[in-house]
Amino acid sequence: MKGILMAGGKGTRLLPITGGVSKQLLPIYDKPMVYYPLSILMLADIRDVLIISTREDIVLYKRLLDDGSQWGLSIDYAIQKKPQGIAQGFLVGKKFLGTSSVCMVLGDNVFYGPHLEPQLMKAKNNASNKQIATVFGVSVNNPQQYGVVGFNEHNTAISIEEKPKHPPSNVAVAGLYFYPNSVIQIASKISFSKRGELEITTINQQYLYQKALEVVPLGNSFTWLDTGSPESLLEASQFIHTIEKRKGSKVACLEEIAFEKGWITKTDVLTVARQMNRTAYGQYLINKYL
Ligand code: G1P
Repeated sequence: MKGILMAGGKGTRLLPITGGVSKQLLPIYDKPMVYYPLSILMLADIRDVLIISTREDIVLYKRLLDDGSQWGLSIDYAIQKKPQGIAQGFLVGKKFLGTSSVCMVLGDNVFYGPHLEPQLMKAKNNASNKQIATVFGVSVNNPQQYGVVGFNEHNTAISIEEKPKHPPSNVAVAGLYFYPNSVIQIASKISFSKRGELEITTINQQYLYQKALEVVPLGNSFTWLDTGSPESLLEASQFIHTIEKRKGSKVACLEEIAFEKGWITKTDVLTVARQMNRTAYGQYLINKYL
């Protein structure tokens, strides 16, 4: 399985902050936003990653993430010429994906919660070996802003709608999707929506109609954070700050994950940590691994 991380878009809901910088590079407390979704791909044991962004911004991601070898990853880059939707990522990434199944994660989605890894592994196995797609459902107070799942009386998913005015439930589809390789074919056949995008929701509808979609609830102990407005951005930073301070550990510390996975050595971790020894992030790694 390969990973696609979507880091494009104009960030219009965060202007003027995003007038000079790509949204997914903004800080969530102590690290760039993109670290959080990248950490999810790593937790799913995905080491081949394609970052998709705009022509102007792709160079910034290259500067930040390089070829990924510092975390035992292989990171490639591709340009989405126009902001024509999340599902276009599968067409932009067609060559990169080849015959692989894929996990797509949105660069502005932050996940925090227990028991995520087994869920990721199951979704990965479903996509790679059973031709079944997986999406994750989370209860939110503002479902109108997301893809929303409708359920029947047996709690089985029967519909998915994009930003419905009258949501059938409060279960939003998070920006983390697992698909078999057939997603490329499906993406090449769907039409643009009213807002001029190839919608990820259209893809999910196709798998749902084929009875090849699992909607996995992330549960109440799980936190899925929004970063779409200045206020939610601040709240996300406050949340990560509180968790990290209270627990004395870090969320989305890429060196830590890479080391625990056995992809890099202690020496590798400490080399990076020493370059950052003036920050709490660097000190955390030095204290843990020296
Ligand atoms: C996108 C998807 C939506 C999904 C959301 C998750 O929304 O279209 O289905 O629930 O990401 O972050 P957008 O970011 O385009 O508003």
